[in-house]
Amino acid sequence: MATGLDSQAQDILRTNDRGGYTVPTAGLYPYQWNWDSAFAALGFAQFDMDRAWVELETLFAGQWDDGMVPHILHHVVNPGYFPGPEVWGCNGPSPSSGISQPPVAGTIVRKIYDLDPVVGEARARRLFPKLRRWHDWFLKWRSHEGAICITHPWESGRDNTPDWDGAMARIDPKDVGEYDRRDTSHVDNAMRPTRYDYDRYIWLVQRGRRLGWDQAQMAEDNPFFVADPTMTFTLLRSHRDILALGEALSEDVAGMADDIAQLEAGAESLWNNDLQSYDVRDTVNGAWANCISNASFLNWYAGIPSDGQAKHLDRIMDLAKYPLPSHDPASPKFEPKRYWRGPTWSMMNMMIGEGLIAFGLPQGERLRDATMRLIRDHGFSEYFDPTDGSPAGGQSFTWTAAIWLAWASPNARRA
Ligand code: GLC
Repeated sequence: MATGLDSQAQDILRTNDRGGYTVPTAGLYPYQWNWDSAFAALGFAQFDMDRAWVELETLFAGQWDDGMVPHILHHVVNPGYFPGPEVWGCNGPSPSSGISQPPVAGTIVRKIYDLDPVVGEARARRLFPKLRRWHDWFLKWRSHEGAICITHPWESGRDNTPDWDGAMARIDPKDVGEYDRRDTSHVDNAMRPTRYDYDRYIWLVQRGRRLGWDQAQMAEDNPFFVADPTMTFTLLRSHRDILALGEALSEDVAGMADDIAQLEAGAESLWNNDLQSYDVRDTVNGAWANCISNASFLNWYAGIPSDGQAKHLDRIMDLAKYPLPSHDPASPKFEPKRYWRGPTWSMMNMMIGEGLIAFGLPQGERLRDATMRLIRDHGFSEYFDPTDGSPAGGQSFTWTAAIWLAWASPNARRA
């Protein structure tokens, strides 16, 4: 029997369960989100293995013919969220958005399989080819010098990070038309992206729709095609994980080692030597974002050590009481409560922390301890102010509960 915070976290997952999929939080996010669902599965795996697999199976039931797995599946249309499926205008197997999200699911399938290979074998075997097709889609349509790119800020899962400011400035959204944002009716304006950003988000959705979400057409003259550490590092890590899984299951893994070499080269193409950090590279003009974000620290998670990155890690961990902020607190663009422009996110901490721990670096356990204190003292909110830990965004949040169960809780069974 779980008690205390473990039991509260389980209750959050059960309460956000809509039958086969979990919403990130009631109200603000009423659909199935891609990477949220993968983290939810990891949380469920601590106490209900069958439900964990179902979460991932529901996600992959939304996979498109070309291999893409959408960032949102709109199972039951909810007028409280904008933009809904009528704005995206997609033709996948079920109503969905037309972009993807960071491919963390492969890593999580492997973890869940490792927690119980007997229960997991048949299910992992069925997901394996779907994961490969999804990864191949990224390699085919989102690769630039080996790094993985995004075609919309939402695709990275880090919606309004300063990392995109340069590329976003290139978009002129004058013909975007009227629309009614719903997010600010659930959460304080000061914690959400600005109107300036939103106009550009919707403009990019309208462009994709106009082009029928055809990747070849979308790639032409795309004003927003940005090489992103989140995508590159999570795909590299997931590809390593599904390669190991495929070998354990004696599945066909031909070509995967070459993909990994290509992604490793791509990761190095994101090293900004002046900044001494992994950074976002704008493929349209070659410019660096010159931003140190929490995604910059996913290199260890992807299996890549870096002394230069570790120096920034120590500096930033000393600056923020509750690390790891999503944007460098020393930067003038740092805003401690505004979404991806400063707040700390538990699932990013887990990935960064796990990577550090795997390399035997003590900062990993420090980050885990900070995440434990953050949730224990400030609850299961969507994200947190790194300066004082105050909760921000939505409450009773699925991934924060899942990260508690799978990683931050002293009782977590970690694979
Ligand atoms: C926001 C986040 C994104 C997340 C979604 C649902 O858009 O930026 O990463 O997947 O909310 O929680």
